[in-house]
Amino acid sequence: MDLTTRLGPLTLRTPLVAASGTVGSVVDFAAVGALEHYGAAVAKSVSEEPWPGRPPPRLYPVGGGMLNGIGIQNPGIAAWLKTVAPRLPGLGVPVWGSVVGHTTAEFARVAAAMSGAGVAAVEVNLSCPNLDDGALFALDAAVSAEVVAAVRAATSLPVGAKLSPNAPDIARVAGAAVAAGADFLVVANTVWGAALDPETRRPGLSGVIGGYSGPPIKPIALRAVLEVRRALPEVPLVGCGGVRSGTDVVEFLLAGSQAVAVGTAHFADPRAGKRIIADLHRYGRRHGVARAAELIGAWQPW
Ligand SMILES: Cc1cc2nc3c(=O)[nH]c(=O)nc-3n(C[C@H](O)[C@H](O)[C@H](O)COP(=O)(O)O)c2cc1C
Repeated sequence: MDLTTRLGPLTLRTPLVAASGTVGSVVDFAAVGALEHYGAAVAKSVSEEPWPGRPPPRLYPVGGGMLNGIGIQNPGIAAWLKTVAPRLPGLGVPVWGSVVGHTTAEFARVAAAMSGAGVAAVEVNLSCPNLDDGALFALDAAVSAEVVAAVRAATSLPVGAKLSPNAPDIARVAGAAVAAGADFLVVANTVWGAALDPETRRPGLSGVIGGYSGPPIKPIALRAVLEVRRALPEVPLVGCGGVRSGTDVVEFLLAGSQAVAVGTAHFADPRAGKRIIADLHRYGRRHGVARAAELIGAWQPW
């Protein structure tokens, strides 16, 4: 099966994208992962100043998925430019940077600083608390649009807006992000969740509420992709949430994504990409599909 896919201005050699925060800085993952099987890999989100992240515990496996409350720990853009960026050209996979911030201006400054650093695109991580009111940017269409517009003005690279499935109306946020200049959308980030340990009576995460990821969120992410696709038939989409097999990738392609990101699956199997791509080829042979692009949006109603 020909796996080439077009994502707006980008052409990817396979539809598989390594999701931000689940492959370290990407550089360290190169030694243990199977990056040659991916169309792109997304670096961990970076802010202007270093963020220390939350204290442990920050990862809590529960219900077949995983809760995380990392707090977007990162070294800040200056250290990132020194330690991560110079090693990107040797990785053999196009790397997208991921920007985060507590204000619109911070997002824009980080995106501008990242732009000359060898990344192929800039992903905007909107699942971050806004300094103004503490709410996630991604929950509100107008503030999401403001951030995307500022990043759009700060870089000439393709810009992707990563949305949140926690938004009450994700299609509305999607529309605002596209109107503000996003070249593609990533649908979506983690789902809010929590766990309590009945033995200790303590929460699974020090931050109590965190992001839930892995197989149990796949139906939620797929619902979000279908909603965004229905509202915006032309927008390039990266589906993301709970993917661990080639047939999961097929589901997201059928729902209308041009590419599909894999995250939590990397924790159990860093070489998941190799297995998923082999799976995809098997699916292609079984169903007589010569090009992955034929699958995009090809779901059939009852
Ligand atoms: C430990 C961990 C760290 C993450 N860090 C980031 C991050 O820095 N930036 C971001 O945009 N998404 C981050 N994510 C979200 C993932 O990129 C992905 O959107 C989400 O986990 C859903 O996909 P999955 O079910 O395949 O993991 C993180 C997820 C996990 C589990």
